[in-house]
Amino acid sequence: MSLSNAGDWISVTVHSKAPAAQDIVTLELISADAQPLPAFSAGSHIELELPNGLVRPYSLCNDPSERHRYQIGVLLDPASRGGSRSVHDDLSVGGTLRIRSPRNHFALTPDAPALLLAGGIGITPILCMAEALSAAEAPFVLHYCTRSADRTAFLSRLRSAAYADCVRFHFDDGDAVQAFDAEAVLSNPGDSTHLYVCGPKGYMDAVIATARRLGWRDEKIHFEYFAGAAAQQASDGSFEVRLARSGRVLRIAADRTVVQALAEHGVEIPVSCEQGVCCTCITRVLGGIPEHRDLYFSDAEKAQNDQFTPCCSRALSPMLVLDL
Ligand code: FES
Repeated sequence: MSLSNAGDWISVTVHSKAPAAQDIVTLELISADAQPLPAFSAGSHIELELPNGLVRPYSLCNDPSERHRYQIGVLLDPASRGGSRSVHDDLSVGGTLRIRSPRNHFALTPDAPALLLAGGIGITPILCMAEALSAAEAPFVLHYCTRSADRTAFLSRLRSAAYADCVRFHFDDGDAVQAFDAEAVLSNPGDSTHLYVCGPKGYMDAVIATARRLGWRDEKIHFEYFAGAAAQQASDGSFEVRLARSGRVLRIAADRTVVQALAEHGVEIPVSCEQGVCCTCITRVLGGIPEHRDLYFSDAEKAQNDQFTPCCSRALSPMLVLDL
């Protein structure tokens, strides 16, 4: 299969697919015509256009110096809305699909010591960071928290890595000696160390809150959520949006997201995660006050109310004016 670009979309082949742990598969995606893939940096993700039509973001977990392949690890989410289920069931070796070129919203700070904290499948961008830090001979420690050894993706890879001495495993079903102690791990922010966190929301919220309480400054705390809150809540009401370029006014019903409601009127906004974590759908707000439900913008960015994620965010004002 040849590598082709359509915009920033690339056609790739599934070169390998293998179990990495219970309910987790790894996939290698390659160019079949020996063209190098676009370069990426640690913390990057790609978006996969899946056979069921959904587009979903997944972090790259291979060595970022590699150009011949992208590697991802995907956990089968029991509450899958179709993304991880399609990766597990519909993608097979030799199959082709389109991906979007790597983007990075979770970049390493060059030349700075790092404390890497991963929970569950949040290991994927963190693993890539460990590879990059090891190659740069930068000091780091990686704490990897999982439920049990058989749910720990990349266990043998980490145990045999050149940087294995920098990795600490914490299994929920292990003995107390190896249990993850956030207070102890985060007790010394230091002057130059940066903290990187990826994992389930509860894990991340607890780690980030502990870090802030123990004196870590916000500019040293880096994180990437891979699953957001539900887009809709029982208490949601309706509101209107005005499309500034055409003047059209559309009602967003209580049981519709802005993306869904606009699509029903022929206005397509590109989406990927549909949970407020990937930024694919970001839309400029020219008037009104959004109710931000994403996990992407900082508090300061949200306070400006000049952009929002229509895949999940709603409105605090009766109307939003969008730059559409
Ligand atoms: Fe990912 Fe909206 S589609 S933030």
